[in-house]
Amino acid sequence: MRKPVMAANWKMHKTVSQAADFTRDFVNRLDEIKNQDCEVIICPPFIALSTLAELLEGSNVYLGAQNMHWEDEGAYTGEISPGMLSQVGCRCVILGHSERRQYFQEKDEDVNRKVLTAFRYNLTPIVCVGEVLEERKAKNTEQVIRRQVEKGLGGLTAAQVHELVVAYEPVWAIGTGHTSSPEDAQQVNTFIRKVLEEMFGKNAAGAVRIQYGGSVKPGNAADLMSQQDIDGALVGGASLDAASFASIVEAAG
Ligand code: PGA
Repeated sequence: MRKPVMAANWKMHKTVSQAADFTRDFVNRLDEIKNQDCEVIICPPFIALSTLAELLEGSNVYLGAQNMHWEDEGAYTGEISPGMLSQVGCRCVILGHSERRQYFQEKDEDVNRKVLTAFRYNLTPIVCVGEVLEERKAKNTEQVIRRQVEKGLGGLTAAQVHELVVAYEPVWAIGTGHTSSPEDAQQVNTFIRKVLEEMFGKNAAGAVRIQYGGSVKPGNAADLMSQQDIDGALVGGASLDAASFASIVEAAG
């Protein structure tokens, strides 16, 4: 059985004090949720990581980052290294988010370098893949996803793949209020697992948690989570409010 993993991606939202207020509120709400058989991750902006690390100590919530550099350290003004993230208490890191690909020209090859580095630092990568609207309309979804998975995850060992999280995020669904139907999302997640099986074998592919992301809300989370190959959610806008993210976590049960 794969344990569901629900992750909050705050993107460029919340000051440190807003992040702290959210976290105190959220941890209290989580205590009241019966279903605890689910992994919960918060990925705040870098500047809030150390404050949240303290606030989350002793809770069941893990800390994650939204991006990192692939080098151990060096002359990369404005970047964050994997060692900095693991030292501050991060357990995971979102890599290859479509906004990184779109606005910061990240390529599959960059994502791959980052994924390989993350494992060296014991950071679990949450690797995002997904097609844009034109690609979906042209019926190229599977071709695009296959390329992103094959190039982004090349060179991993089967043991690493066991730990991996993949997030299927159709780009047209992110921040738009247009969610993929649970059936369509299930179909793509099954396809992702099939590609992973070709690359790493049945056992590893069967262990990978594959999230869905793109306008997940309290009202649609349970339907999405009921699909067999949807093992969690990567939540943007609806994770900024503690009550809303808590009710999405509850839907994972
Ligand atoms: P959204 O973002 O929930 O606001 O659509 C999801 C994401 O980009 O991870």
